[in-house]
Amino acid sequence: MKLGLTAQLSLVLLLLVGVALGAALVSMRVELRWAIPIALIVAALLTSLVTRSLTATTTHLTEVARAMADGDLSVRARVPKSSQLAPLGAVLDLLATNLSSTLAELTSERDKMSSILESMREGVMLLDTEGRIRHLNPALREMLWIQNDVEGSTLLEAVRQSELHALLALARRTLDAQRGEIEVRGLKPRVLLVQVQPVPEQGWLLVFFDVTEMRRLEGMRRDFVANVSHELRTPVASIHSAAETLMSGAKEDPKAAARFIEIIDRNAIRLRDLVEDLLSLSSIESGAFRLQREQLELRPFLQQHLKMFEGRARERRIRLEVNTPDDLPPLDVDSRALEHAVSNLIDNALKYTREGDRVEISGRPLGAMVELRVADSGPGIAPEHLSRVFERFYRVDKGRSRGVGGTGLGLSIVKHLVEAHGGSVGVESELGAGATFWLRLPARRPARAQVLERDSAEAPPAS
Ligand SMILES: Nc1ncnc2c1ncn2[C@@H]1O[C@H](COP(=O)(O)OP(=O)(O)O)[C@@H](O)[C@H]1O
Ligand SMILES: [Mg+2]
Repeated sequence: MKLGLTAQLSLVLLLLVGVALGAALVSMRVELRWAIPIALIVAALLTSLVTRSLTATTTHLTEVARAMADGDLSVRARVPKSSQLAPLGAVLDLLATNLSSTLAELTSERDKMSSILESMREGVMLLDTEGRIRHLNPALREMLWIQNDVEGSTLLEAVRQSELHALLALARRTLDAQRGEIEVRGLKPRVLLVQVQPVPEQGWLLVFFDVTEMRRLEGMRRDFVANVSHELRTPVASIHSAAETLMSGAKEDPKAAARFIEIIDRNAIRLRDLVEDLLSLSSIESGAFRLQREQLELRPFLQQHLKMFEGRARERRIRLEVNTPDDLPPLDVDSRALEHAVSNLIDNALKYTREGDRVEISGRPLGAMVELRVADSGPGIAPEHLSRVFERFYRVDKGRSRGVGGTGLGLSIVKHLVEAHGGSVGVESELGAGATFWLRLPARRPARAQVLERDSAEAPPAS
């Protein structure tokens, strides 16, 4: 059996004790021939006693060390202080204590990292140096439609996306970060911005940002600018060519001059309307238009407001009727916004319906809202256009709309204004059977309900 340095020292010490004892016996005049064997026997007995105790402690320490190696860091050697192996036991215990606190720190760090990864909206994937997936978070699973367990497989096996593979291949070739956009088709098409980043000695980190909405908005803005430019170009070109014709001699002919001046005037009005509509739209969209809500009785408001349209209605022999019940609750709206919205609807009804038609403006209570309906008996709108007429620049018949001075922005302004109040808009129509546009706007709650609500909000909770 192998003994440690301390144990060997102990043995030497015991031998020395034996020799000393022998010497003592000699000095006590015990016959020399007995003294040596006695001393040796005592030394041997003492040695065996110490060796046995050392062996037991060593076995205990070995067991404790093995338990620790097997992962149980809660065991402690607790060797008695009197034992020669006590320092070794103490070191072993300290080692276990330090190891378990390091392990606890590492575990909490890992938990923190994984909860961050789990809750991230960005997709994250870690590939090892071989290109095998080591980790991917739930956001990425959703983005790339990955349902099965792909950890351990290669990117190629897990994701069928050639642009993504090309991006990773480029990063691996250049050993540098790369960034690119990929399009994911399927039920929910998306545009993802991918950043591939080398991670020293680990592999590659891929971060995916969903930029679908951003790209959609950019597309809308591009379309909007293109539409605006297109809409502006036509009247500007008409004004320019009319002015040129006038300058190149038409001004000498009073009849022709009057015609070209009228063209200039009509197109200048179109430009003005377009610019005004664009300004309204941009001020509502940018939030610069602040609603000033007030209590507004619908019937007097309509009677007053319709006066503006009487002349035009008479001209086209269109009957304008107002129909609201007596008990209609007042509205809780911004009167300028309502005026703007209602004007657009009546303007459309007067523009797009035939001469001799009828336009009825009515109101009815609808829960906490009031529904305002503008119904005409005109040509109506075909079903395929119904869901789109509230879009910017959408016109069922472009030529006809321009002919009657339309910008294609009126209904989108109406929608924005009503939605800013927390309301909604819609249209019901059948081709050839008229169209009914409706706005649902919040009604002013009766004062009693408001008081009750305030009281219940202020009252302490019932115990
Ligand atoms: N009362 C209506 N009857 C039939 N079509 C209508 C009516 N109101 C609107 N529309 C259709 O909806 C389109 C969008 O209306 P709007 O946004 O007000 O634009 P604009 O009046 O400038 O053309 C119109 O071009 C027209 O085709
Ligand atoms: Mg209009």
